[in-house]
Amino acid sequence: MSSVVVVGLQWGDEGKGKITDFLASRADMVVRYQGGNNAGHTVVVGDDEFKLHLIPSGVLYPGIKCILGNGVVVNPAVLLQEMADLKKRGIDISGIRISDRAHLVMPYHPMLDQLDESSRTVGKIGTTGRGIGPAYVDKYARYDAIRFVDLLDPAFFKERIAEVMAIKNNLLDKLYGHEGFDFSRIYKEYAKYAEELRPLVTDTSVLVNAAIKQGQKVLFEGAQGTLLDIDHGTFPFVSSSSSAAGGACTGSGVGPTKIDKVVGVIKAYSTRVGEGPFPTELPENMVSLLRDGRGREYGVTTGRPRRCGWFDGVLAEYSVRVNGVSDLVVMKLDVLDKIETIKICTSYQYRNTFLKEFPASLKVLAECTPVYEEMPGWRTDTTAIQEFKDLPVQAQNYLKRIAELADAPIAMISVGWRRNETIINHNIW
Ligand code: IMP
Repeated sequence: MSSVVVVGLQWGDEGKGKITDFLASRADMVVRYQGGNNAGHTVVVGDDEFKLHLIPSGVLYPGIKCILGNGVVVNPAVLLQEMADLKKRGIDISGIRISDRAHLVMPYHPMLDQLDESSRTVGKIGTTGRGIGPAYVDKYARYDAIRFVDLLDPAFFKERIAEVMAIKNNLLDKLYGHEGFDFSRIYKEYAKYAEELRPLVTDTSVLVNAAIKQGQKVLFEGAQGTLLDIDHGTFPFVSSSSSAAGGACTGSGVGPTKIDKVVGVIKAYSTRVGEGPFPTELPENMVSLLRDGRGREYGVTTGRPRRCGWFDGVLAEYSVRVNGVSDLVVMKLDVLDKIETIKICTSYQYRNTFLKEFPASLKVLAECTPVYEEMPGWRTDTTAIQEFKDLPVQAQNYLKRIAELADAPIAMISVGWRRNETIINHNIW
């Protein structure tokens, strides 16, 4: 197996960081293909915890190549800070490369993101405020976008940002009465980033395709999750990029014929941050069952408490389908260890009908009531268990039901945040 995409199947925060890190231990290259520093991946190595926002989780393995593909929007200040922090902690960062076609997050992007959100009384998306949406708006609108290839051409970049900043400052003033940004300060700041990052910027599609051709193991690391995908997610309460598996191709310059497997990462229950309907959400008086204790369901990027709920089989089937998932990885099974009765959603009731397929309309979704099956909990600590057959039978049955509803086989089960707290049913590589 040479190329594997890892993708989240819910609303992000499925624990992809741990699995990417696990699979990266045997990979030669890890590729981020979308999103930006709105993502937050936590990886635990021994007693050390690493929180990564832009750099692929694979960076923790010395000598591995880490690619930020063309589909990523990169805030260079955040990237350089993340690189400096990793270096200080003794991590080898020499394998990082950035696509010359990747777009830049400029200082006005987070500002526009935050001002836009705070100015709305209705229809807030609950963004991370990192400027990801406005950066993709510029990309797709085309007029004001700036790519790495532009950053590295000093004369062109100066001209370009003078033009674009005049437009953005005007917009900030007219829409929000904001004073805007000082051109010479931003130019100097970005000219410095350009020189620091110049050696890392290249046509990364050449690198990724060459690695695949040579039979190297390439891991495509999706950020956020399928329900936050701009096309397949719970629109408009989504992020602005293609986080589903298809994005791995467009976001890295690799054709679909080159992808061997799609690994879908799904939590044994559901969580979501930000706004939007969430059919299996637990009421506030029950949420600590999953959020606190081993769940630790607080955002890595913003620290916001996550909304939590039961496993949703309708959503799982949808996500497996739109991603073409070949292997499932079920995360955080241990969070359910103490629960007496576990609920699992098998369909939605919408008015007088039952839905087996995840609806496109959020109005319909908001009116759906989950139809639950109740399954007995196992009330046993599973964190030390290394094989599926050693799991309590109730846990085995719960996992079998997940695989059945999602319609994909389970390759791995995570029973704790440490690297070795993982059950392997079959090898992914
Ligand atoms: P944005 O990506 O900052 O524009 O935020 C859009 C929506 O996606 C919000 O609901 C965020 O909370 C959510 N979101 C963005 N990135 C992540 C992530 O990495 N994990 C979970 N939710 C995310």
